[in-house]
Amino acid sequence: MKDILAELEARRARARLGGGEARIEAQHARGKLTARERIDVFLDPGSFEEFGMFVEHRASDFGMAANKVAGDGVVTGWGMVNGRPVFVFAKDFTVFGGSLSEAHAEKIVKIQDMALKAGAPIIGLYDAGGARIQEGVAALGGYAEVFQRNVLASGVIPQISVIMGPCAGGDVYSPAMTDFIFMVRDTSYMFVTGPDVVKTVTNETVTAEELGGATVHTTRSAIADGAYDNDVEALTEMRRLIDFLPLSNRAEIPEIESADPHDREDASLDRLIPDSANKPYDMRDLILKVVDASDFFEIGAAFAKNILTGFGRIEGRTVGFVANQPMVLAGVLDSDASRKAARFVRFCDCFEIPLVTFVDVPGFLPGTAQEYGGLIKHGAKLLFAFAEATVPKVTVITRKAYGGAYDVMSSKHIRGDLNYAWPTAEIAVMGAKGAVEIIYRKETGDPEKIAARTREYEERFMSPFVAAERGYIDEVIRPHSTRRRIANGLRLLRDKQLENPWKKHDNIPL
Ligand code: HXC
Repeated sequence: MKDILAELEARRARARLGGGEARIEAQHARGKLTARERIDVFLDPGSFEEFGMFVEHRASDFGMAANKVAGDGVVTGWGMVNGRPVFVFAKDFTVFGGSLSEAHAEKIVKIQDMALKAGAPIIGLYDAGGARIQEGVAALGGYAEVFQRNVLASGVIPQISVIMGPCAGGDVYSPAMTDFIFMVRDTSYMFVTGPDVVKTVTNETVTAEELGGATVHTTRSAIADGAYDNDVEALTEMRRLIDFLPLSNRAEIPEIESADPHDREDASLDRLIPDSANKPYDMRDLILKVVDASDFFEIGAAFAKNILTGFGRIEGRTVGFVANQPMVLAGVLDSDASRKAARFVRFCDCFEIPLVTFVDVPGFLPGTAQEYGGLIKHGAKLLFAFAEATVPKVTVITRKAYGGAYDVMSSKHIRGDLNYAWPTAEIAVMGAKGAVEIIYRKETGDPEKIAARTREYEERFMSPFVAAERGYIDEVIRPHSTRRRIANGLRLLRDKQLENPWKKHDNIPL
């Protein structure tokens, strides 16, 4: 027995070394942790239960029969994050560059299937060279098996991808079908085809960083939802994110103890809105003052900054926040902001996370660039997402709610449960100046008349009261009481029952 145990330990020790000391050192020299070190940082100490440590590839071409490494380039299993189960796979770049073989794919598929059955999130840590070149079509088939499971798990368990090294070819499409992608600055990049292929096909000269680094994907393509400075920061933040998420669509949203009173008032909110309607203020301040202990996990912070999305808690329970940001483009809705927020709203709805929406929006962004870029369809995504969502929806209009954007931003008409407005709210078809210039076009030569008409319009429509008179706004509330109103509302709506008509699935304007 002793010998067998010693043999097991020796095999384990060999497997833990992956591609060997030299490759581990090279990994460290690049500022990266190894797959196992990453898992250690991510999971609660001692909680990792590994599967498939001794799995080897079955290829024999190109001398592969004599070149086998236990684990075959991916470390898989499950463990705990703050006491809650999570499945994890981490590509091991020290073994065949983390490339995907048939056996490697089977390891991932196994934990995907288990995560789905167990109803727990799955997180993939990427650092890999794509399909195992020596295996050819067996690797391609392996990818497709993984992709299929990504799709089946979508909306059932949270799926998160963290890109911590190269991620190209087949490796990009599995992350793309997960709920969130995060990257590590300077050491990670993602693209379908690398700089060499780009040069050959399009004659563009571009570096890996320019083509698919963290800056590109968090600010331009919006492929990634956030980026961090190093592996440890990324993984620690992933623990924080996991804490906000339910384990599955069948699980309760997580609730942690909160010492922050639900009725905490914040007098500074009464002064948040500047006297001048065109002066910006930071909507993030409102979120931070409303959530428990100012703890807000922002999603997509570097992209479409005219809208804020992210998770916070009220009374210890997770809430998804969507908020126009007047600091950027006056908080206007454009294609990027609509896409970003729509995806976030749908995530929350999948996992029964209530939505709180803060509105200060001057409308949709006019112009050829937006129209040619499909603003109608992108704007419709957000409208569709809010309208189909059956989770509790609490909306607070702080200032402008103009035009179609009023409707879109979780209005009463698209099943907002509680719709509040601050006294500073202006709910109208458009700003007073634009409105008067249209309806009194004949008087535009007379500035005095126009000024009088503008005042008249402002007095009548640029307030929350016309909407409140019609019941579109449930109550005009004092800003300092916003947290209490939301907390009470979410308590009320905890067991909300609302179902959409039966359908196979909807046809959201993609
Ligand atoms: C087998 C691979 C590999 C691969 C890397 N390695 N990629 N082995 N299959 N795809 C091995 C290398 O041989 C090397 O082995 C080790 O991993 C480290 O690679 P290096 O090239 O030395 O590292 P680095 O300079 O950091 O470059 C990393 C890299 C590069 C950018 C990822 O290796 C690379 O471009 N690899 C090929 C990428 C690629 O074209 N993949 C196929 C995509 S097609 P040793 O023994 O020397 O340590 C695809 C199709 C799927 O994925 C589509 C499905 C939809």
